[in-house]
Amino acid sequence: MTVKGQSVQQFLQNSDKVNASLSQLIITVTTACKEIADLVERSSILGVEGLANSINVQGEDQKQLDVMSNDVMVEHLSAIGLLDAMVSEEIEDVIDIPSSYSKGEYLICFDPLDGSSNIDINLSVGTIFSILHAPKNNHKTSVDDFLKTGEEQICAGFCVYGPSTMLILTIGAGVFGFTLDKESSEFVLTHPDMSIPENTAEFAINMSNQRYWEPPVQRYIAECIAGIDGSREKNFNMRWNASMVAEVYRILVRGGIFMYPIDKKIAQQGGKLRLLYEANPMSFIIEQAGGVSSSGKQRIMAIKPDSIHQRVPVILGSKNEVDRLVSYHQ
Ligand code: AHG
Ligand code: MN
Ligand code: MN
Repeated sequence: MTVKGQSVQQFLQNSDKVNASLSQLIITVTTACKEIADLVERSSILGVEGLANSINVQGEDQKQLDVMSNDVMVEHLSAIGLLDAMVSEEIEDVIDIPSSYSKGEYLICFDPLDGSSNIDINLSVGTIFSILHAPKNNHKTSVDDFLKTGEEQICAGFCVYGPSTMLILTIGAGVFGFTLDKESSEFVLTHPDMSIPENTAEFAINMSNQRYWEPPVQRYIAECIAGIDGSREKNFNMRWNASMVAEVYRILVRGGIFMYPIDKKIAQQGGKLRLLYEANPMSFIIEQAGGVSSSGKQRIMAIKPDSIHQRVPVILGSKNEVDRLVSYHQ
């Protein structure tokens, strides 16, 4: 039953796709996200909008809120006895569960704060997560446990901290959007069965990288910009939030195509976005909503990762536009 207005807890209880432990794990993630939402909302009052003066494993400057959001996730998730281990965009190695807590049957990958270049300008940021089964039997947790294709995800979701705090969730049977009701402090179902229109006239790409793009993306964007006067005979509009959670949310609501392709500047590192923390969970959500997600060369969820911080080119959104750009790669 997908009745609007029900809490995420009721939604999970009514679902035959989740058992009590997975449900509790998802609820714990939402509890951590509510805490991160508060930190984001109050960041300038708390004086934590700025840089942490540290560099993460990705070689990027960490914001204070990147570090704080990571700590909130790790703290909540360590204590519930449901996880075997976790990996985070902000932490180099696998995060073990401290021996004072018991271990469980799941693995989680997360980007504690996505779009964090937007913090000090008061635009949307978010948290992205992906849940997998841990290998069975008494085994020693290792990096290899996390190197599974996106097809093996059992749940993926993200929160957007925007004008409303929203939770978008898939447990492999459609995509559901919940809005945080600050009066009850509950995420309530407001967007059941989200579905992405197959056609769109809206594209999202960081145009400042244009001179570094490969020919397929050059051609696709040139055709969009030529609009009604070009071969597409149709005008396009452009959006770029520099925040994947905001872009994917927009695409879930009204369609669109989002691209962070490979380009000459980032060729060495394989792309910009991270497979485990960003591309896989978002691809699961996009596919569950009827969209398509590709690296240009293959379906993102079919990529077998080599390392936990692996990056990939990403093209996702409305089916007909993504299919077109993928066909330009062939
Ligand atoms: P993060 O803040 O976790 O590092 O991720 C930022 C990502 C993604 O949200 C966004 O689409 C992209 O990086 C923005 O990149 P540019 O700053 O190159 O536009
Ligand atoms: Mn991110
Ligand atoms: Mn991040």
